[in-house]
Amino acid sequence: MKFFVDTADVDAIAELNELGMVDGVTTNPSLIMKSGRDILEVTKEIAGMVDGPVSAEVIATDADAMIAEGRKLAKIADNIAVKVPLTWDGLKACKVLSGEGNMVNVTLCFSANQALLAAKAGGTFISPFIGRLDDINLDGMELIADIRQIYDNYGYETQILAASIRTVNHAFQSAQIGADVMTAPPAVIKAMAKHVLTDKGLEAFLKDAETAGIKIV
Ligand code: E4P
Repeated sequence: MKFFVDTADVDAIAELNELGMVDGVTTNPSLIMKSGRDILEVTKEIAGMVDGPVSAEVIATDADAMIAEGRKLAKIADNIAVKVPLTWDGLKACKVLSGEGNMVNVTLCFSANQALLAAKAGGTFISPFIGRLDDINLDGMELIADIRQIYDNYGYETQILAASIRTVNHAFQSAQIGADVMTAPPAVIKAMAKHVLTDKGLEAFLKDAETAGIKIV
């Protein structure tokens, strides 16, 4: 499974990148706002840090303006994936931008039918938002499973990018169902390393090592 990091915080990306945990990065206008930086400048810096796709989102809502913004974002670097919302205009922009050879991430997906349309429009990635469905008491994981089944039924190559991952269980279940990619905040990726029995076991081993006077270097 590929791991994308859902942040525009370059220090957090660098830390995970050193461990080989970063196959790509996703940003959105809210994450850019949080970084306090200019979108073109910070996106360029991130794209230079990682080898994989870096999603940068358009802010226009009509197709022609989205296409113009998408072309500008795509010029930042070869590894930019233009992020467009899953609206009818977003699908039009997806078709044009992907036809021009750009990676396109179709975002804000909340239904399997939306995901089917994104695949037909040539999306490179479809981003179903798990956490936001859970927020309104719907099952985000069911959506991932439905999309997986539909894409496999017809051999669509659009990659399922499980997004709005808020917990380590979201990460585990996305992998279990077979999402191609997940994008998660740095804190969630780091939390995947945590287990209470690991901490407890380590504490006991260290106590015994001290009692035994074990020294290695
Ligand atoms: C994905 O591309 C989005 O940026 C992100 O996963 C949204 O997550 P949120 O619902 O926690 O804001």
